[in-house]
Amino acid sequence: MNAFTKMNTALQIDEAQKIFKVSRQAFTDPTILEAERSNIFDKCWLYLGHSSELDKPGDFVTRSVGGRNILFARDGQGELKAMLNTCPHRGAQVCREKHGRAKSFQCFYHGWVFGLDGTLRSQPGEESYAEDFKSRSTSNMQQVPRFESYRGLNFICFDAKVESLTDYLGPVLEYLDVICDQAEEGMTIVGGTQEYSMRANWKLLTENSIDGYHALTTHATYLDYLKATNGSLAPVAFAGTAYDLGRGHAVLEYKAPWGRPVAQWIPSWGEDGKRELDRLYARLLERFGKERADRIATYNRNLFIFPNLVINDIMAVTVRTYYPTAPDHMTISAWALAPKEETDWARKYRLFNFLEFLGPGGFATPDDVEALEQCQRGFRNAGEAQWNDISKGMGKESPSYDDEAQMRAFWSNWNERVFQVPA
Ligand code: FES
Ligand code: FE
Repeated sequence: MNAFTKMNTALQIDEAQKIFKVSRQAFTDPTILEAERSNIFDKCWLYLGHSSELDKPGDFVTRSVGGRNILFARDGQGELKAMLNTCPHRGAQVCREKHGRAKSFQCFYHGWVFGLDGTLRSQPGEESYAEDFKSRSTSNMQQVPRFESYRGLNFICFDAKVESLTDYLGPVLEYLDVICDQAEEGMTIVGGTQEYSMRANWKLLTENSIDGYHALTTHATYLDYLKATNGSLAPVAFAGTAYDLGRGHAVLEYKAPWGRPVAQWIPSWGEDGKRELDRLYARLLERFGKERADRIATYNRNLFIFPNLVINDIMAVTVRTYYPTAPDHMTISAWALAPKEETDWARKYRLFNFLEFLGPGGFATPDDVEALEQCQRGFRNAGEAQWNDISKGMGKESPSYDDEAQMRAFWSNWNERVFQVPA
């Protein structure tokens, strides 16, 4: 039995002394990963993909979600289906492509053919099967136990008894609305999937994705670059708030010195850019009034949806999800999200921001990968140096975007689920 199961918690919390510590064993122990798989990834709503990825009937993608292979397809009626990508015959993965457009799916092993919704259409040697074989539900590909959507974001859950997606998301919905409302015709995924991996525990990326504290040091090069290309970081300085949104969800909402294609101008975008952003802002004003227009245009959001979905609405919008393959290794998938109707100018600068800062080759991600892998290396000393400190901003009524309240929200929920005890 390891120290955790004896302690029944990975946290050391003392509100009066403003102590919040997380045991580093949470990042290294294989038994913790097993508990995470059964108590978190088998129980929570997990992000599957965006509706815009499946534009037309027959479009499909395959992806690994919560350790399962999923076939996500738009059927002939235009309805989205999330199926377990395994043949009801003898188990082979039915669809072996990453994405594409199909009329049907044929399992390559014995040739069973399934419709776009997973129903068995034909199989070689049909005469050797029971007469009603094709009408039995067990002959079809299995749908995932739960599949629900909100504003083009599709989620699945392997626990049939889970609460509805909208109940699970709760106050997160309002932030998703703010992000999606920047588009009039809906948001769309631009380009394909970015995939990369890190030799670090998956929870390090949760922390990092909502960590307003590290920007000035880890991303000093990017901030120097902004200064060099725009003359200075003024007039917009970093400032904002962290919110605990319940159930382990959290968000940072803040101002920052970079340009936003909707709609914060920076000098390096020139007069053309100014005209375009003035036009976008005027339209937001018309649609939402000043307060909400300002929030959409000039505030950044790092939104974390428990357990492993990040939507960063910063200098571009990135959707990111990640899974552990081992206690010290994770794989990451990321997508760029943008208003469908945006002009070529805005799309160009949005994607440039994605390349420049957010993508795996940008200013930010390699720095973050280095920081997270360094932490994981540091955890080799966890036997002696056992605790991480997550106490920044404890006791504040309104924690700042660069405090750690949002991480405490994650860890409390994580602890409760992993050890099945109230935090
Ligand atoms: Fe798919 Fe046999 S395993 S047809
Ligand atoms: Fe970072």
